[in-house]
Amino acid sequence: MTSTLAVHGGEPVRRRPFPSWPIWDQREIDAVTEVIRSGDWGGIPGTKCREFAAHFARLHDAAYGVAVMNGTTALQVALRAVGVGPGDEVIVPALTWIATPQAALYLGAIAVFCDVEPDTFNLDPSRLESLITERTRAIVPVHLGGLPAHLDAILAVARKHGVAVIEDCAHAHGAQWKGRGVGSWGDLGAFSFQQSKVITSGEGGCILTNDRHLAELCASLINCGRIQPEDQTLSEHPFGYNFRLTDLQAAVLLAQLTRLEELTTRRAANAQLLDQELGRIPGITPLRRDPSVTRQAYYIYHVRYDPAGFGGLSRDDFCKAMVAEGIPCATVRGQLVYRNPLFGANPLRGASAVIPGPNGPVDYSETYCPVAEEIATRTGLAIPQYVLLGTEEDVLDVVRAARKIHEHARELVTTGS
Ligand SMILES: Cc1ncc(COP(=O)(O)O)c(C=O)c1O
Repeated sequence: MTSTLAVHGGEPVRRRPFPSWPIWDQREIDAVTEVIRSGDWGGIPGTKCREFAAHFARLHDAAYGVAVMNGTTALQVALRAVGVGPGDEVIVPALTWIATPQAALYLGAIAVFCDVEPDTFNLDPSRLESLITERTRAIVPVHLGGLPAHLDAILAVARKHGVAVIEDCAHAHGAQWKGRGVGSWGDLGAFSFQQSKVITSGEGGCILTNDRHLAELCASLINCGRIQPEDQTLSEHPFGYNFRLTDLQAAVLLAQLTRLEELTTRRAANAQLLDQELGRIPGITPLRRDPSVTRQAYYIYHVRYDPAGFGGLSRDDFCKAMVAEGIPCATVRGQLVYRNPLFGANPLRGASAVIPGPNGPVDYSETYCPVAEEIATRTGLAIPQYVLLGTEEDVLDVVRAARKIHEHARELVTTGS
């Protein structure tokens, strides 16, 4: 039997921090210095923005890239480009960040929540058809945590019903499905470079597509409706926004890209080690990886927790015990987006939802996705990407902590702490 649990005052498995994020070095400093010295910090769009977007598109096997100020606006613009407007329905997974449904809501559309698969946490394609109506305009699969959603099955349903697919790739930089980059499978793909993402410029985003017209339309929409001399497919000036990225941010992203490959490989190797070692502990099951997933980004390392394997210890208490042992670990409760006060009983407005629809506020109070509920409230656990950037020894601390809690689980259940 190992030493006393840290939640009971014992020595934690780990006191040292895991690698800090973001990672940067002289490359970022030189890149930003060059832009500052050039005097071209913005641009309409800037040369660094164009260079970055083209490079990022190539990296994901897409023909075109458009740099944009964040992942939320990337999604919003992508949805608008495929014609989503007031009263249209957009299907999104029940587990994601709130930006996914919000991007549709900003356009006056209605977010329709689709349940997820219990063993991948991603949108369940088998549930899509029952959600499609004559008002459905788009499906937005999220590659949650960097694990690609089942693109073949989702695209098959979308094509059958003439519905667009916008891939939410905010977690999935560099991930691949059947050897081809995510973001290049749907009509468009939307990425985020917010601070916690696996490449970052503090804030930032990018839209990818293989369709020249959609690329020109998105570039115009984020640039106040401007049409560039090289544009060939735009016949009218779109009613645009200013959602441009700056060249200072694009320069940082170009520097960050130089280590994406190395960091992705390190995360994948450490994730494999965790799959193998955590998978031996009764009550912890790594996620299923479809054979078509040829590369995973591991923005989040998710596992399924079963209280039965830990003598009835709840997921939340296990998570608290892991944090006490020095392991960054979180539940995925907050990812059950339709439980956000925005959609349901909003404490600031009595019982009604805030979201206006074409015929009055949309009522989401009946929305219920049982699999996503189970993951959010009982079984889903998340470890952030920077943990996977440590050495094998660092990562094995995660396993040591989980084993220690497993051995002491009954004490936690009986004491209730
Ligand atoms: C799944 C998902 N989609 C979209 C976004 C939005 O990206 P941003 O924060 O850059 O607006 C995020 C951000 O965390 C996200 O997690």
